[in-house]
Amino acid sequence: MRTPLIAGNWKMHKTLAEARALVGGIRAGVEGVSAVDVLVCPPFQLLLPMAKEVAGTRIMLGAQNVHEEPKGAFTGEVSVPMLADVGCTHVIVGHSERRHVFGEDGQRLARKVRAVVDAGLTAVYCVGETLDEREAGRTHQVVEDQLSDAISAEIPANKLVVAYEPVWAIGTGKTATPGQAQDVHAFIRPKLADVYGRDTTDALRILYGGSVKPGNAADLAAQPDVDGALVGGACLVAGDFLAIISAAASVGAAT
Ligand code: PGA
Repeated sequence: MRTPLIAGNWKMHKTLAEARALVGGIRAGVEGVSAVDVLVCPPFQLLLPMAKEVAGTRIMLGAQNVHEEPKGAFTGEVSVPMLADVGCTHVIVGHSERRHVFGEDGQRLARKVRAVVDAGLTAVYCVGETLDEREAGRTHQVVEDQLSDAISAEIPANKLVVAYEPVWAIGTGKTATPGQAQDVHAFIRPKLADVYGRDTTDALRILYGGSVKPGNAADLAAQPDVDGALVGGACLVAGDFLAIISAAASVGAAT
């Protein structure tokens, strides 16, 4: 019903030569895989050359962040029209590093999501609790608040992907168990249904992110409400990223 999406968040990694090698490997490997959507999100300086590398393939291009204004005196920032101009179709918004390292709050993220979808791009909106919040039993409340910050009926559902990324699992090697991931995904879906209705929400993808690796990808993908992955560290090696894509494809094929 929902085509899995495997997205690679390169973060602040790769020179041009390294990026060409990585995308070359992904391109060769995805040719035989169907029924999985594939997205790469390189850092800004690589977007234009990577747009050329993925042109004519099924690999889609996304950015990791964006400014909410279309243009202006915002030193160091990049706007949605600029991203669209170089071929981006997706933008990650609200990644925990943007929230916690760069202090982006819910209001700011709401403006970013709005700017992305208003320009016809898809927002990959990230939510997730910290370890303290989980241990205090606040996971569902935190996720609900982050969803309601930015998601409303004005945001078209077909331009939205939600990524659940528990902060304690990002880059730590501690993956949420498939059961923990499913629990939160199964909590998120009805919250989205409150906004969009059940039929629309049935088509909306909720990705899991946080130390997804070739070894745990299939078990995560097998969860009924896990519709793909937002992959950090493991997306930097073509073979690992491809193994995660294949895991999603085989789970999809088996259901
Ligand atoms: P990780 O990162 O896979 O390295 O944990 C995921 C993310 O931050 O999106």
